[in-house]
Amino acid sequence: MYFHDKLETLITRVDLEDRVRKLGQEIKEAYREDEPLVVVGVMNGSFVFLADLIRAVERSLSIDFVRLSSYGDATQSSGNVRLIQDLEKSIEDKHVLVVEDIIDTGLTMQFLLPNLKSRNPRSVKLAVLLEKPAKNQSGVAADFLGFEIPDKFVVGYGLDFGGLYRNLPYIGILVG
Ligand code: IMP
Ligand code: MG
Repeated sequence: MYFHDKLETLITRVDLEDRVRKLGQEIKEAYREDEPLVVVGVMNGSFVFLADLIRAVERSLSIDFVRLSSYGDATQSSGNVRLIQDLEKSIEDKHVLVVEDIIDTGLTMQFLLPNLKSRNPRSVKLAVLLEKPAKNQSGVAADFLGFEIPDKFVVGYGLDFGGLYRNLPYIGILVG
């Protein structure tokens, strides 16, 4: 069976492209061009979104990564977030734009954002592809948001289930 068979399309490839291009323009306009910007990707889920987004931001920027874990293979957040791999470089006196795949409960960003803010950056903002507003009780809000989605488990465009489906070029809902 081909892997598309178990999936319902939620956001098409074309809609992703259009939205990401607009987010790139918004991000460019949000910062002065002569001030340093570091894009911080949250591994693993953000890597496809990040790759497309940075090419839509027409300005100089650098890229760094953190790796966080809370889920294991479950589909519910454990709330127990760990920093598995930290940034390579200092973010002191730089603008930081965190790029994340999805805000579900918000617990992951509730952990990461204060951690980054404690390192004396000029600013910390958050770009998120997807948010499930029904689940997010954390008070964490994206500064740049792609799409609000229903409270369903989604895969594709970097998001996985059990390590699979990250290479799907659209966002799908697993249907069984
Ligand atoms: P939160 O801490 O509950 O906001 O969850 C954030 C993390 O959980 C994201 O970075 C994703 O890696 C993962 N996650 C949450 N919802 C989904 C989903 O529907 N599909 C795939 N991964 C998800
Ligand atoms: Mg993630």
